[in-house]
Amino acid sequence: MGEVRLDPWGHFAIERYEKLFKQFGIQPIDNVIDKLPVKHYFFTRKIVFGHRDFDKWIDALKKGEKVAVLTGFMPSGHTHLGHLMVIEELRYLQSLGAHVKIVVADAEAYAVRRKSRREVIEYGVEYIAHALAWGLDPEKTEFYFQTAHTTPYYRLIQMFSRKVTIAEMEAIYGKLEPSKIMAALTQAADILHMQLEEYGGYKYILVPVGADQDPHIRLSRDIADRFENELGLRRPSSFYHKFIRGLDGNKMSSSHPDYAVFLLDTPETVKRKVLMALTGGRATAYEQRRLGGVPEKCVVYELYMYFLYNRDEDLYKLYRDCVEGRILCGEDKRRAVKLLNDLLKKHRRKYKEVVNSGLPSRVVKVPSF
Ligand code: TRP
Repeated sequence: MGEVRLDPWGHFAIERYEKLFKQFGIQPIDNVIDKLPVKHYFFTRKIVFGHRDFDKWIDALKKGEKVAVLTGFMPSGHTHLGHLMVIEELRYLQSLGAHVKIVVADAEAYAVRRKSRREVIEYGVEYIAHALAWGLDPEKTEFYFQTAHTTPYYRLIQMFSRKVTIAEMEAIYGKLEPSKIMAALTQAADILHMQLEEYGGYKYILVPVGADQDPHIRLSRDIADRFENELGLRRPSSFYHKFIRGLDGNKMSSSHPDYAVFLLDTPETVKRKVLMALTGGRATAYEQRRLGGVPEKCVVYELYMYFLYNRDEDLYKLYRDCVEGRILCGEDKRRAVKLLNDLLKKHRRKYKEVVNSGLPSRVVKVPSF
């Protein structure tokens, strides 16, 4: 027992995430946590593990400057718990007083995934309804589809194309096709456009994203430097979260629906999925009691850490009960099913209200095809 490190916030792949610091100059989140006016558990648990210039953005927020948050998602499937992480981050940042804007990356989804336009649009509308149901304020949140924005935004994409080279983009992204070049420049316009007067003139932009999106942040920061004089652009800030894993232990994704928890999954489906999830349990109950489990391996523990246990004391107790062999996986899973279904039931009720009120299309211009 003495060898078990009691670190409930530890993550199975923290080493891999830490490599990003050295290799790409992402800053560890630790130094910024104390600056946060309200400390969300995503930060204290290191689910959000790194950032670029987030400290500058917090300073601006505290000084009462106009600050905004811009993030986006690719509508290539139904909304799942991975998406909900970003929505929760946005809810939190909005509660601190930031202006929030969400882009539905329908152009990107069409270009890089094999989906029809109709599907992509439907998934986009679904996501917006979830964001509003989760508590984003419809009066204070802006939404747009990449294919249905206004002229100055598109002009930016065209202007950006002049000041980047293929060699430089391939150094960031690897081999590129036209679709991906378009998607990358479009994402740079997403990230930078709110700085234009037409879009509010927000000079402090924060982009909360999964770690895989950092290439886009790097490109956008380079582009901002090059358009400092011509357009008055400044570098955006960003922070990065770890991915919530799917129930098989790989990244949660709608392309592996059996291992993802979708926000509209029925209680029975949630139960079926969670009961078969990968845990850090031992081969037998006897061994589990003797040796304890390995929460770092366990995706059910991850559900508790990301969504089910907001109080650190509860999570810490669960961690200890597991590593010290006092709780077995079956019991742990049944409790997770109950908590997750309670959470989703409440959310689904709100979701229905939002949809019935016709809200998504009142706050976003839905593309016609
Ligand atoms: N590329 C992002 C994804 O795959 C979606 C996206 C488009 C985005 N534009 C953005 C994310 C701007 C953050 C900021 O999910």
